[in-house]
Amino acid sequence: MARVVVTGANRGIGLEFCRQFKKRGDDVIAVCRTASAELKELGVEIVEGVDVSSESDVAKLARAPAIQKQKIDILINNAGILRSENLQNLDLESIRKQFEVNSLGPLMVTHALRGQLAAPAKVGIVTSRMGSVADNTSGGMYGYRMSKAAVNMAGVSLAQDLKDQQAAVALLHPGYVKTEMTGNNGMIEASESVTGLLARLDALNLENSGTFWHTNGEVLPW
Ligand SMILES: NC(=O)c1ccc[n+]([C@@H]2O[C@H](COP(=O)([O-])OP(=O)(O)OC[C@H]3O[C@@H](n4cnc5c(N)ncnc54)[C@H](OP(=O)(O)O)[C@@H]3O)[C@@H](O)[C@H]2O)c1
Repeated sequence: MARVVVTGANRGIGLEFCRQFKKRGDDVIAVCRTASAELKELGVEIVEGVDVSSESDVAKLARAPAIQKQKIDILINNAGILRSENLQNLDLESIRKQFEVNSLGPLMVTHALRGQLAAPAKVGIVTSRMGSVADNTSGGMYGYRMSKAAVNMAGVSLAQDLKDQQAAVALLHPGYVKTEMTGNNGMIEASESVTGLLARLDALNLENSGTFWHTNGEVLPW
């Protein structure tokens, strides 16, 4: 049984992570801003009031009894936002916000919880193929693409920096998933996405740490 922490746990892919970890018998700490009815129904431990872009909220998370109680085997940085900007509407505030949530959020949470990671441990960062420079053939989406490219870089640095404490890091693309973020459009359900992501996490180790994986197992180009 692993002790697992998931951010953005109240809905979408994060909620599904909690559901599947719980189903396989793991001990789940669901971190969110506000718990949903579906999350409460899962019967997992919930830490509410955590905006991953807030330094004080992340510090509060690190001090939470649920976190301090026992070492963490798996940390899933899943919380994220998507907004659209293009050259006609270059909303810099929106771009900044995506950096704060999508890039700095996972870095701050991992930094704050690193002392509570077990040895060995696994850290998953739910990023996006939209952050792949090599895969960008359609442009636009400045804030989302840039913030996910930045978190990919943070993930590779974390993979190097956490090696000594035996924590492996995976950059995880969930696929095009039907959630609120996509207006429930997508190629796959969250259940299929997370089943694949759990297989990627099961295969994660210190040798392949820092890899950028599609949920289907494909290694994605940076
Ligand atoms: N769906 C896709 O096709 C797709 C594709 C590639 C990557 N992803 C990535 O997958 C992850 C999960 O997305 P999703 O599809 O499940 O989207 P979602 O349904 O919109 O869920 C996003 C989650 O992130 C949380 N969140 C947003 N801003 C936050 C903040 N500042 N602090 C704490 N929590 C925050 C949300 O909580 P609130 O309810 O409090 O807002 C929610 O729990 C994201 O990182 C996303 O970029 C998704």
